[in-house]
Amino acid sequence: MLTHARAYAVIGLDAIPIEVETYVSEQDGAGAFTIVGLPDKALQEARARIRSAAAAAGLLIHKAVILANLAPAEVRKEGAGFDLPIALAVMAGFGWVNQDMLGEVAAVGELAFDGRLRPVPGILSIAEAAVRDGHSTLLCPEQCAHEASLVPGCRPIGCATLREAVRILNGEDLPRPVVERQPRVAQPVPDLVDVRGQPSARRALEICAAGDHNLLLVGPPGVGKTMLAKRLPGILPPLDDEQALLATRIHSAAGVLPDGSGLLRSPPFRAPHHSATTAALVGGGSKIRPGEVTLATGGVLFLDELPEFRRDALEALRVPIEDGSVRISRASGSLVLPSRFALIAAMNPCPCGSPDAAACTCSRERVQAYQRKASGPLLDRIDVGVHLARPAPEVLRNDRPETTLQVRERVLSARAFQAARGFVNGRIPVGRLDELAAPDEQGQQMLDQATTRLMLSPRGVHRIQRVARTIADLAGEIEIGSDSIAEAISLRLGSLT
Ligand SMILES: Nc1ncnc2c1ncn2[C@@H]1O[C@H](COP(=O)(O)OP(=O)(O)OP(=O)(O)O)[C@@H](O)[C@H]1O
Ligand SMILES: [Mg+2]
Ligand SMILES: [Zn+2]
Repeated sequence: MLTHARAYAVIGLDAIPIEVETYVSEQDGAGAFTIVGLPDKALQEARARIRSAAAAAGLLIHKAVILANLAPAEVRKEGAGFDLPIALAVMAGFGWVNQDMLGEVAAVGELAFDGRLRPVPGILSIAEAAVRDGHSTLLCPEQCAHEASLVPGCRPIGCATLREAVRILNGEDLPRPVVERQPRVAQPVPDLVDVRGQPSARRALEICAAGDHNLLLVGPPGVGKTMLAKRLPGILPPLDDEQALLATRIHSAAGVLPDGSGLLRSPPFRAPHHSATTAALVGGGSKIRPGEVTLATGGVLFLDELPEFRRDALEALRVPIEDGSVRISRASGSLVLPSRFALIAAMNPCPCGSPDAAACTCSRERVQAYQRKASGPLLDRIDVGVHLARPAPEVLRNDRPETTLQVRERVLSARAFQAARGFVNGRIPVGRLDELAAPDEQGQQMLDQATTRLMLSPRGVHRIQRVARTIADLAGEIEIGSDSIAEAISLRLGSLT
């Protein structure tokens, strides 16, 4: 008897429908279970799990001849989410599951040997695709039901075991209501009030948050570089509905959505370690998973100790930073994922990390090599650079800086101007700069002089225009005057030392 079940394969951030087709013959008694359409290793494991989980449900299938086909064959199927739909189609072949009911639903879930259902990544994408295809009912592990319920129109049925899924499909049990997962207590984002002194770095952080400019903090150890970076998400606007759904889908597909988090509303903060591989940063690898640049979308990518990152990894970051999207190549074609984030990087001025140049013990060559490592691939992608020095003792003692809330207020109003113009300043296309970010007469004069004096490239000039636009927006000024241009020039990353 031929039976069917609807499954989904997650590819990048999308899910593609997979038709599970099974043929079961109990006559032979020789016992063979063949699955076609799965990669070799997954195949072995899926058969073992399905047989064992079925036995745990009291259903013995090892004596029958079973043939299961996952179509289309050319779609690469990863992960163990096909266990449940295959198992259910097989059970339908034995007449243990109502095929009509099974035909109405989509199913996803990994089976444990004892028949329990285990959560799988990408539920949000699967639920969206299923609803789009008219399969509004999704049979899934109970831990995934809440995530699926975030998709409008989806009716998830969470099951603890294969046996429960079978009973529900046969109308012997009622689906249990979807329980709101315990919302994770949101990690409080640390406050800017903690950072004393460092006025120029604080100012640069605010400008970058207001206009999505990339920032590099250079300074000796222990002056607050990491502290500042961790406070950047706190001054960014919360994600709107569309961004929240995208961020949640990305984290779900990467399998890193915290349990019970619901829709992600705060800007993500990703701080990959400097030993991260290229695949971990930009995505791809043997399993097509979103990388750090995609996970940071809508939030912050923090590269602490920039020169310690692998050279090839830094090279690979150039395009995602520039384009706001990243192309991942795989055997069966390529995939484009978003990579829009505020980049913040930090480094010491030299490898010995001495507090001032006079105490530095590094040779000139060593310092140059160290700085070249960071500057070679990435420096021309950095809009704003600041040097931090140790704050004076009385500053550390007495400074009463602004809070995150106070700074965020200004950031939000500066962003409102940009929303009205249709572009975040950091991403104004070259062709629109004259219209959206032209300085006034005095400002233009100053910019022209600086261009000659500092031998700025056209790219450098455009960068100053974009940053100056943000500075004017923060001040609530329509014109970009010479003050804004002057500050933007001063924030330009000249040489590192
Ligand atoms: N400006 C500051 N205001 C208040 N505390 C500070 C400041 N700078 C540093 N500190 C204190 O020093 C600790 C280390 O700061 P942080 O990790 O930001 O240094 P860093 O500049 O990143 O150094 P490294 O180069 O070693 O990474 C902080 O946890 C805080 O206790
Ligand atoms: Mg640090
Ligand atoms: Zn040194």
